[in-house]
Amino acid sequence: MKGILICGGTGSRLRPLTEITNKSLLPVYDKPLLLYPLQTLLDAGITDIAVISGTEHIDQVAQFLGSGERFGCTFSFKVQEKAGGIAQALGLAEEFVDGDDVCAILGDNVYFDDLSKEISGFKGGAHVFLKHVTDPERFGVAVVQGNTITSIEEKPTKPKGDLAVTGCYVYDHRCFDVIRNLMPSSRGEYEITDVSHWYMEKGELTATILKDEWIDAGTFESLFQAAALVRERRRS
Ligand code: DAU
Repeated sequence: MKGILICGGTGSRLRPLTEITNKSLLPVYDKPLLLYPLQTLLDAGITDIAVISGTEHIDQVAQFLGSGERFGCTFSFKVQEKAGGIAQALGLAEEFVDGDDVCAILGDNVYFDDLSKEISGFKGGAHVFLKHVTDPERFGVAVVQGNTITSIEEKPTKPKGDLAVTGCYVYDHRCFDVIRNLMPSSRGEYEITDVSHWYMEKGELTATILKDEWIDAGTFESLFQAAALVRERRRS
């Protein structure tokens, strides 16, 4: 399985912090944010990883990560010209993935659960990780029956439940055919939720509900919470 670390985007909700650097390079306690999702990929035994970022900050991201030698992995870097959505960013890795399964993780997602069993035991279709939250309208929202998803919507104004779809997506190689045929959403982005939706319609979208904390560190408040939580766990 190949890994994709998705670190583009504008980081607009974190301005002015993101005016001169990428969101994923901002500190979370003692490490840049992107090292947390990177560790999630490494813990799952993934060593071949494409890192995607925009033209503005790909140089800093590559400078920080290097070849991958110090993490025991190999990085390839891909540039996303414009922030056209997470699915578009993933689509850039098609050649790199070369027909394998893929685990794509967002550069601003911090997991405290161990996802390695689900990722390394993936057997085709699509698998996502859900978390009960109090503010589901901020996220992709799913409804589950057993471990199969029966509804998935991107940032619905009236969520059908409180299960957020977190930013780690395990797909088989068909995701790239789906991405090539996607239409942009009303906000003009190629949505990762539409990729998962395609698998859901085929009855092939399964999910795990996270037990421990999960943070999308894309706002001042959640970035702060991520740092506080990492610090607390480090000291306990
Ligand atoms: O964190 C989980 C949520 O992430 C999901 O619940 C949503 O379904 C999903 O759409 C996404 O929502 P966000 O609003 O949090 O996405 P954001 O724009 O913050 O982008 C997430 C990461 O992806 C971030 O590290 C930047 C990167 N990105 C984003 C876009 C739009 C790219 O690399 N390229 C892009 O074009």
